[in-house]
Amino acid sequence: MYDKNIEKVLITKEEIEKRTSELAAEISRDYKGKKLIMICVLTGAMVFFADLIRKIEIPLEVDTIVASSYGAGMTTSGSVRISKDIKYDISGKSVILVEDIIDTGVTLKTLTQMLATRAPESLKVCSLLDKPSRRRVDFEGDYVGFKIPDEFVVGYGLDYAEQYRNLPEVCTLNPEGI
Ligand code: PRP
Repeated sequence: MYDKNIEKVLITKEEIEKRTSELAAEISRDYKGKKLIMICVLTGAMVFFADLIRKIEIPLEVDTIVASSYGAGMTTSGSVRISKDIKYDISGKSVILVEDIIDTGVTLKTLTQMLATRAPESLKVCSLLDKPSRRRVDFEGDYVGFKIPDEFVVGYGLDYAEQYRNLPEVCTLNPEGI
């Protein structure tokens, strides 16, 4: 194991690769002929985003956004600030926001409400992971890789205190380690 705080592998490299290929195939089909722009929500989504876009077989633009939620410790406060906005005008474009995880839903609810005011042709969300049991606001992803139970997960872009993002699989962290 990588270190003593890693409890178990929840989703293997092979499972991630297979599911990412399926999502990319769906997106390639659904957005054929559209002006597609994919937005990576940094930092957590960067690994998934890089793998996903390379499997999409239609033209697309990429952009990035950084959102920080304010709150104490490991819970979100419900208040989200955009610390780096996207670079491009999305009006008339088909937008897919790409995330690593939908947890309380507060981040994506805020981002989609904000981006919807800029007149995109459409606005959808693709997330590798979804923890529906943690939802605090009403929010559903359009393309979801895996629904997972309420366990603290790291790896494949997800961190604990900025560590573990480089793990190639999604793992659970031993609660005693955190
Ligand atoms: C994580 C994750 C999502 C958000 C999901 O980001 O990447 O953006 O939390 O949580 P929510 O559904 O409860 O809003 P985090 O703020 O940890 O930053 P990071 O992407 O830099 O890891």
